Amino acid sequence: MKVHDAHLVISAVKQEQYPEGNLPEFALAGRSNVGKSSFINKMINRKNLARTSSKPGKTQTLNFYNINDQLHFVDVPGYGFAKVSKKEREAWGKMIETYLTTREQLRAVILIVDLRHPPTSDDCMMYDFLKHYEIPTIVIATKADKIPKGKWQKHVKITKETLHLDPEDDLVIFSSETGQGKDEAWKCILKYMN
Ligand code: GTP
Ligand code: MG
Repeated sequence: MKVHDAHLVISAVKQEQYPEGNLPEFALAGRSNVGKSSFINKMINRKNLARTSSKPGKTQTLNFYNINDQLHFVDVPGYGFAKVSKKEREAWGKMIETYLTTREQLRAVILIVDLRHPPTSDDCMMYDFLKHYEIPTIVIATKADKIPKGKWQKHVKITKETLHLDPEDDLVIFSSETGQGKDEAWKCILKYMN
């Protein structure tokens, strides 16, 4: 897909702030620092529209990005960040849960995992949650640039097995560094647009 416009609509913390209208929505999920914001930036050819950081916990709100007036990407705070209080973690959980279980415009969740390592127990919990609510999921296995190409398939197999990936859900090998998998990821997203 050719992206000619991308802008932040709103950083929301509560339901009343979600944008109105019927644009199909694709929300990012994944552990803190795994590369969710970098994924958005690569997909829309922008260096830093979605704010990234080498420190985990950069994204704190639900950030709605309008892409070509055709869809929203929703950048979501990551999970598994040790340095947050129990209270903050609960608030995070409520915010994400409300969004994922009530948002009618949500077409699919883009679950970002690190291709280098087996999915964490938090990754598995998130995937199980999505499947429990029958939310279509696109798994993006990112940071592929950090391991040799010859090892990709072995890591894909471990990722699929650890998540118990539903055969209906796609998995794309990705890199925000090289752009590997970008076209394939767009294809997966466009499947859920109509
Ligand atoms: P939170 O907002 O804290 O949840 O993190 P996030 O998931 O949005 O991660 P972010 O996109 O900010 O990336 C975290 C770090 O990983 C940054 O230093 C990125 O440059 C790096 N990174 C992300 N994707 C890739 C990738 O595909 N390859 C490499 N080599 N580094 C990446
Ligand atoms: Mg982020």
